[in-house]
Amino acid sequence: MSLDAVSAAELIAWYAEMGVTEALDETPHDHFAAAPEPARQPVARPQVAAQQARRPVAVAAATPPDEAALSARALAREATTLDALKTALASFEGCPLKATAKNLVFADGNPAAKVMFVGEAPGADEDRIGLPFVGRSGQLLDRMLAAIGLNRQEHVYIANLLPWRPPGNRTPTPQEVAICLPFIQRQIELVDPDILVCIGGPSAQGLLGVSGILASRGRWMEYDTGRRMIRAIATLHPAYLLRQPLQKRLAWRDLRVLKAALDAL
Ligand code: URA
Repeated sequence: MSLDAVSAAELIAWYAEMGVTEALDETPHDHFAAAPEPARQPVARPQVAAQQARRPVAVAAATPPDEAALSARALAREATTLDALKTALASFEGCPLKATAKNLVFADGNPAAKVMFVGEAPGADEDRIGLPFVGRSGQLLDRMLAAIGLNRQEHVYIANLLPWRPPGNRTPTPQEVAICLPFIQRQIELVDPDILVCIGGPSAQGLLGVSGILASRGRWMEYDTGRRMIRAIATLHPAYLLRQPLQKRLAWRDLRVLKAALDAL
């Protein structure tokens, strides 16, 4: 490789690490402007879109977000097992995050667990290893679970709102969330837990439609899995607790609420 080619490759790698995932266009795009599609609301689809939805295709990375979300919904619906869903995700090209991630981060824990935790998105450690919550915040999550007598191998199933790491750990855009939402919704439906715990604001907003994690945490809500209504609760993200250790007292309250509900099952 010539020196220029080496520098260009290094520059592209640096852009990817910093979160620059799209080439510039003639006009600026505000990727934060459009709100993510609210959880599980019926969508009126034009006829063409409905036809596409019946025939799932793996779409290219530059696919418009609406088309990618439709394709995601069709693929997710077709998957009738967790393994099939993981395979469908692995073949899905509609989310640009896939291009910069090292690994698909699907899930960890026991798929037969009564409680399912859903975080935001993989970080660097999760991306490298291919499992959710294995870095510093994952270790804190494990200690929090242990405090109420749970361990991830036996008692919980853990996944993320997004299965690919946003470059530089940036917050996922509403479009990325909308594109990946059908997959995590289907994952919850297939696991069919009794209780859903949303870890952090983006997960609570994406799945429960609530904003403001400090205001919405710690209270029971309902979540429609597609099969039945289950109890759902939002709590603070361990990454936030690592930065704000005093807030652990709030997370501890949420954990006690969760423990009481699990004991009552
Ligand atoms: N933060 C998350 O939300 N999920 C992970 O898997 C790791 C860190």
